[in-house]
Amino acid sequence: MISGINFQEYLKLNLQNEYYNNGTDFQEIDPLSINPDYLTDFSIYEKHRYKDHQYEFRCLLFDSSSIPKERLIELLRFRKKVYIHKEQVINYHQYLKDNLAYILNHKEIDISKKTDTLISLSTEVVKECFESIFTMTGDTRKFLEKIQRLISQAVEFISDINSLSGIANLIGHDYDTHIHSIKVGWLMATFINANKDLFTVEKDAGFHDLLVQAAVSGLLHDIGKIKIPQNILNKKGKLDNLEYIIIQSHTAYSASLLFDTGISKNAMQAILYHHENEDGSGYPSGLANERIPLMAKICHIADVFDALTSKRHYKESKSAYDALKIMTGNNPYLDTLKKFEKEVAENVKVSVTAIVRDDYDIKLRRLREKEMVEEEAIKRVEARMKLRDQGMAHCFSKDLLRRFIQTINQSKSFELSDLL
Ligand SMILES: [Fe+2]
Repeated sequence: MISGINFQEYLKLNLQNEYYNNGTDFQEIDPLSINPDYLTDFSIYEKHRYKDHQYEFRCLLFDSSSIPKERLIELLRFRKKVYIHKEQVINYHQYLKDNLAYILNHKEIDISKKTDTLISLSTEVVKECFESIFTMTGDTRKFLEKIQRLISQAVEFISDINSLSGIANLIGHDYDTHIHSIKVGWLMATFINANKDLFTVEKDAGFHDLLVQAAVSGLLHDIGKIKIPQNILNKKGKLDNLEYIIIQSHTAYSASLLFDTGISKNAMQAILYHHENEDGSGYPSGLANERIPLMAKICHIADVFDALTSKRHYKESKSAYDALKIMTGNNPYLDTLKKFEKEVAENVKVSVTAIVRDDYDIKLRRLREKEMVEEEAIKRVEARMKLRDQGMAHCFSKDLLRRFIQTINQSKSFELSDLL
């Protein structure tokens, strides 16, 4: 007996309610991964032995809209494994993306299954980005596999240090930041892989660890954003001064969430200092030149490049060429920009103290300050963003940015040579 199946729909999809085969047309899934509060658009099958190496796959559920929630929970409760047809794997992947936070937070789902789910979705994101930048040949395909393995190992490391729940919260809080973090992880690993000479590592195993830690720092660099109110992270308009200051505190929050987890010093430095600028105008510490750790400089470049080339709900994406043009451009209004940055930096000192002191206090303070400065602040921030888009060369190490362009340009799919 099949639960609430709409046979007309079935005919449209060309799916049957039972199959007899050796199982290659089906993929096993964990029944616990099905969120009873979400309407699925794929069918779930159970498997029975039929004869020899043949199985019967019988449809349990056409989609979750066809039965009440309680019935769905009961249907899946005592089943260890269920199956989906390969024609609907794409629907299931979309379902996993939409429900990743639910799965990672589920207390009964085994940690290894959570890790596998995150690995498969993260490596898929990497594949999509990789294919958008590199022309696929035999060599690049091998390289993609290597990068995907690195990302898998980075996710395994994150799972070992018990930080999956942090990622789950970030996904629930701000999915864009999670996708951005995966992309920063792969850009960092890709860059370091192509620029081995920058690091003094004696053994190959040491270099491999370094690549994994680079991917780890990309994946976790913005984890502190789970502490930033969603209405600030997802604000459609420009941020006002105080909101900008609160966002800046995410680097310290990221570092404090990962303190004492066994994360490497390189990765920790990248996470804490990935917004430091080469000329000392960045945050949280205003470090300049050689005082900024190398991994942090690389994270900064990968972070800005991905932010500029990604589409967000509040902005269109830029092409790789346009993004790199901004990143390499000398800003004609640098003095004015620095004046703005200095004012923000002074505000940061005051406001970060307030944030650390007490969440309640900061809310009150924010309300008061917001009323006082909003109008003026909006004008200033708009002016600051316009100024910044005139050129960001002062933010990055010249040599590293040149190497980054060369790394991106390896595939010859872009014409970037005039930027070098
Ligand atoms: Fe950040």
